[in-house]
Amino acid sequence: MIFSLSLFCFSCSSKDTTPIPQPVPYTEQPAPQPAETPAPPVSSNTSGDPGLKLIEGADCLACHKIDAKLIGPSYQDVAAKYTDADMDQLAQKIIEGGKGNWGDIPMTPHEGLNKDDAKQMVKYILSLKKQ
Ligand code: HEC
Repeated sequence: MIFSLSLFCFSCSSKDTTPIPQPVPYTEQPAPQPAETPAPPVSSNTSGDPGLKLIEGADCLACHKIDAKLIGPSYQDVAAKYTDADMDQLAQKIIEGGKGNWGDIPMTPHEGLNKDDAKQMVKYILSLKKQ
């Protein structure tokens, strides 16, 4: 009986010595990151150009690329070869089609195209001239 009592007391005292739980030290949360601003869409400074829109709306890009030769010359090559003074002639060539200036592969005619739209396209192409 005494033994069991002392055991009881022992368990009492041991209970007293249980360490008081310490408050968990405040761990610094990483500062909230500013909302990521979406990268602007990849676009050249000429995007939104009415000439480019016309080109994208026609079949031009099936044969032309801005910066690489495809079936036709790259538009940058065309821009390097011509000046604004050739605009009329180039617009006419887009409408009528033809070959000979870049090789033997002909450009298909675009008879449905009106001259003003063709000129807009040429204007855009010539704007690609490297400074
Ligand atoms: C079937 C393929 C094809 C399509 C479609 C096409 N082209 Fe071409 N384009 C060519 C080829 C080939 C040449 C090179 C012609 C040459 O040697 O004179 C060329 C040349 C050109 C030239 C330079 C002309 C010159 O005399 O140097 C311009 C400008 C041009 N294309 C614009 C356009 C535009 C704008 C469109 C869309 C309305 C278009 N092309 C659609 C194949 C194409």
